[in-house]
Amino acid sequence: MSDFKLGFAAVQNSEFYTNGPGKSIMDCSNYPKAIQDHLNAEIDMIQKVLKKGQYTGVFEIGSAQAENAQKFVDQGFSYFGIDINADFVQTAKERLKILSSHKQKAETVLLDFYQLSAHFLSTHDVNSYILFLPFNLFGNFSDKVGAIQKLLSLKQDFVISFYDISSQAYMARKDYYCACQFEDLEYHETKNFAHFYSADGLDSIAYRIDCLEQMICDQKRNPEDAITIEKLSFGAFGKAIYVRFLDDRVIKS
Ligand SMILES: C[S@@+](CC[C@H](N)C(=O)[O-])C[C@H]1O[C@@H](n2cnc3c(N)ncnc32)[C@H](O)[C@@H]1O
Repeated sequence: MSDFKLGFAAVQNSEFYTNGPGKSIMDCSNYPKAIQDHLNAEIDMIQKVLKKGQYTGVFEIGSAQAENAQKFVDQGFSYFGIDINADFVQTAKERLKILSSHKQKAETVLLDFYQLSAHFLSTHDVNSYILFLPFNLFGNFSDKVGAIQKLLSLKQDFVISFYDISSQAYMARKDYYCACQFEDLEYHETKNFAHFYSADGLDSIAYRIDCLEQMICDQKRNPEDAITIEKLSFGAFGKAIYVRFLDDRVIKS
């Protein structure tokens, strides 16, 4: 599967989301209806997953302005978001002030996913939360294998949500990235992934679900890491991978 390693420019870095044109990608006025429908279906998907485990909350990675927080709190779950964009996190903090109650917590901090550690999770009392990578965040990471290694090292159940490879997904993504006005938008598809990229830094890959499953299995080097991988579909072109650790961790409630 050598085409996991892209031979062409992957120019994106955290600058794209912190100070660059990447901010527009989280502006809902740029979401065509098909993308908004996808996001609504994504929330339904993660809420179904939440009911499967003994989770007390959602730890959203790439939480932006924490627009999803209310939906989780309304369902009785706590919420913790991290993002690398300081303006988004500031707006999210304002939003979350009114959400926290005695029973449920709702917090957000400025943190890069790559800086996340098991120590951070335990000191922030979020070990019973599910880690959630929404809206094709995974496909925007510069080091995808490193991201999988990080997720496996955290030993906490996680869901990666992404787009299918289909003509419907292609059309929705194209309309969305065009609305964001990225420069010189390009598209490249192989049997394993569908990649949109632009001259000003968009670098968004959606992997075929079997391919992402294989990438996770390839990184599961430690035989003591007993995990199950469930493949999910949602909406018109949503895909997700749900990884559970089958260890004897005590879930706090
Ligand atoms: C969810 S991704 C959006 C992907 C886009 N919807 C697509 O179609 O590819 C964008 C959000 O993730 C955040 N983000 C990007 N890289 C991050 C990282 N390494 N750690 C935490 N948040 C990150 C960005 O600041 C932004 O709020």
